[in-house]
Amino acid sequence: MENNRLILDVLEGKDVERTPVWLMRQAGRYMSEYRKIREKVSFLELCKTPELACEVTLQPLKAFKLDAAILFSDILVPIEPMGVDLEFTPAPVIANPVRNPQDVQRLKPVDPEEELPFVLEAVRLIKDNIEVPLIGFAGAPFTLACYMVEGSGSKNFLEIKTLMHKNPDAFFELMEKVTESTYRYLQAQINNGCSIVQVFDTWAGILSPSDYKTFVYPFVEKLVNKLENAHIIYFAKDSTTFYKDIKKLNCAGLGVDWKIALNDAADLLDNKFVLQGNLDPAVLFADQKTIADEIDRIISEAKDIKGHIFNLGHGILPKTPVENVKFMVDYVKEKTADA
Ligand code: CP3
Repeated sequence: MENNRLILDVLEGKDVERTPVWLMRQAGRYMSEYRKIREKVSFLELCKTPELACEVTLQPLKAFKLDAAILFSDILVPIEPMGVDLEFTPAPVIANPVRNPQDVQRLKPVDPEEELPFVLEAVRLIKDNIEVPLIGFAGAPFTLACYMVEGSGSKNFLEIKTLMHKNPDAFFELMEKVTESTYRYLQAQINNGCSIVQVFDTWAGILSPSDYKTFVYPFVEKLVNKLENAHIIYFAKDSTTFYKDIKKLNCAGLGVDWKIALNDAADLLDNKFVLQGNLDPAVLFADQKTIADEIDRIISEAKDIKGHIFNLGHGILPKTPVENVKFMVDYVKEKTADA
């Protein structure tokens, strides 16, 4: 069971003996243990097989003694039962993107217990095998809508922006459906054992502050206000220009990318949130002296903020040297331990 409550204590505003650390995308291709499993099964099969998803979730915990586990899955897994055909090649590709009001109409809200039982089974299995809190996650409504409408990643996001500006009624209906599905999906993860949930708004940063406020923020707010019985961390990449809105969110933690110092982020946010971040994942390709210097800088920038969870500013990159990941985790723990 949960012997190590550091991350929960930080999110609850308690004093802790050192800074907790975990990594976005901590299970994945940079680990040979992961690649070995992926030789045998496709990525989606891995997500849909609870025993394997559990095994992969545990791999980085065993290798680096992290302070939290994160469910192994993908933000796009719950859009399949909504009626979207999904493939990973390894980047996601959707054969039938949502492009018009009829497409939006056809989408069904998710029933997680019926349609995503393998995720909830994975959550229960992982819970039985860890001593740290389990983080569940989902894509934020806008980021999921981006994939559903674009059909893949995108450079200029013209399809979603066109839907938003030319057909706002259809856009809002899509956002309502995705928000309701995401709420049900996250609440089911919580009900099955996740004590923290992270909401990934990877693509929010493509918008102007005014479009973020009109088209995105209200749905994040609704989602955060509906969820019960877990700590929520909202991670929006490239979002410092939205902080006037984001600071009204009723969540405990906020993920911060590397484009702003944590103390400056805390100032803009009235020091309202525990901040999570914010090492540039590319720094892990440097030598260990450089990594140590960057960690020292982040720790010192975080010293007066409400609370700090050490993490990267975005997901770990596939070719990251494993020995540097181990070095980083050990170094954060050693440097932040009460002197
Ligand atoms: O953190 C963890 O260990 C949990 C696992 C996790 C994955 N994806 C596994 C994955 C999490 C939290 C995600 C979130 C995710 N997925 C996001 C939001 C966070 C972010 O990075 O911005 C997004 C945008 C996606 C969509 C996605 N999934 C993309 C763009 C890709 C392809 C690019 C890539 O990194 O390969 C994926 C595939 C994916 N999701 C892989 C993994 C381990 C690689 C699949 C493989 O094994 O080939």
